[in-house]
Amino acid sequence: SILPVLLAGGTGSRLWPLSRSLMPKQFIRLTGDQTMLQQTLQRAAGVNAQAPVVVCNEEHRFIVAEQARQADMALDRIMLEPFGRNTAPAVAMVAMQQRARNADPLLLVLPSDHLIDDDERFTTLIQQGAEAAADGQLVTFGVVPTGPETGFGYIEAGAPLSEGSNALAVSRFVEKPDQATAEQFLAAGNFYWNSGMFMFRASAYLEELRNNRPDIYEACERTVAAMPQDPEFDRVPAEVFEACPDESIDYAVMEHTQKAAVVPFDASWSDLGSWSALWEAEPRDEDDNVCIGDVVTHGTRNSYVRGESRLVAAVGMENAVIVETADAVLVANRDRVQDVKKVVEAIKNGD
Ligand code: GDD
Ligand code: MG
Repeated sequence: SILPVLLAGGTGSRLWPLSRSLMPKQFIRLTGDQTMLQQTLQRAAGVNAQAPVVVCNEEHRFIVAEQARQADMALDRIMLEPFGRNTAPAVAMVAMQQRARNADPLLLVLPSDHLIDDDERFTTLIQQGAEAAADGQLVTFGVVPTGPETGFGYIEAGAPLSEGSNALAVSRFVEKPDQATAEQFLAAGNFYWNSGMFMFRASAYLEELRNNRPDIYEACERTVAAMPQDPEFDRVPAEVFEACPDESIDYAVMEHTQKAAVVPFDASWSDLGSWSALWEAEPRDEDDNVCIGDVVTHGTRNSYVRGESRLVAAVGMENAVIVETADAVLVANRDRVQDVKKVVEAIKNGD
């Protein structure tokens, strides 16, 4: 059976000021009527799977429960972290809980903040991944790259795992390469972007984690053993979890394992990582603007303009991002949107 594991512990600081620590992007309606979490729950339900586990920060427990209820989606568990230690531990703790129940499902690890338009195609591709995962592979889903982005993992694809298989062997996985390396990969042509979704048997992931990062593995074992029984939420105990290294699944496992496979993911996909990614993903008007809310533009092109609480007017703007919320306004050049998180860091540090 397939157990979806929704990772919802990130902060999404590049989408400030809409995404806040109290309300990160996965809980917001960025596109359409549903929040990103609700869209992901819906997508997971389309795969013939068990009710999902959501792993999030304890501050967001009621938001997660309420959004699932509103979307009429049953959850298996909500696991609450007191602070993030990135994705390798989050997935390990869910896998260990399954092991404690003598279960060894195929875990379908899903970021909760991605935009995927075609849920039917998604289901087909997940089924292809499930076959390879059932064979013991750690399956990634590879997106055809459109530029030398440095914010993604890169997957070098080899031959099909077996004749007629849609999954390809992975010869190399490189997480967030520098610019020059990303350009080389793009020129080579046989590289995919890692979509950030994974599929593997719980036991296969734990074995690879133990082989490559025994420190993380053991810290998670101690944490899960100390988890109090709580009928409502699985609370990760801070005193024990504190000692766990902070590492993503990509660096901890995927860069090292010999058992990685990749299923080419040809449905439309965006990780909505920045305001520019949102501009690209959304329908645009005749001036190539994305306008959301009460917005008026004049002589403005290639821009993302969003008003949450007031009328916003843009005149003579080009390549701009303007995002108004009740207590903060962002005005940025669309080529510099990766730097929005620097502003957020500066605000947090009180600069
Ligand atoms: N529960 C929990 N705890 N969730 C977390 C934590 C944590 O500590 N940290 C991150 N997450 C969630 C985020 O909310 C997001 O849904 C997902 O895990 C991935 O984390 P990101 O921080 O967004 O990762 P990334 O975008 O830098 O990189 C990953 O995704 C790329 C594609 O978008 C990697 O897998 C890359 O290889 C990949 O290309
Ligand atoms: Mg991301």
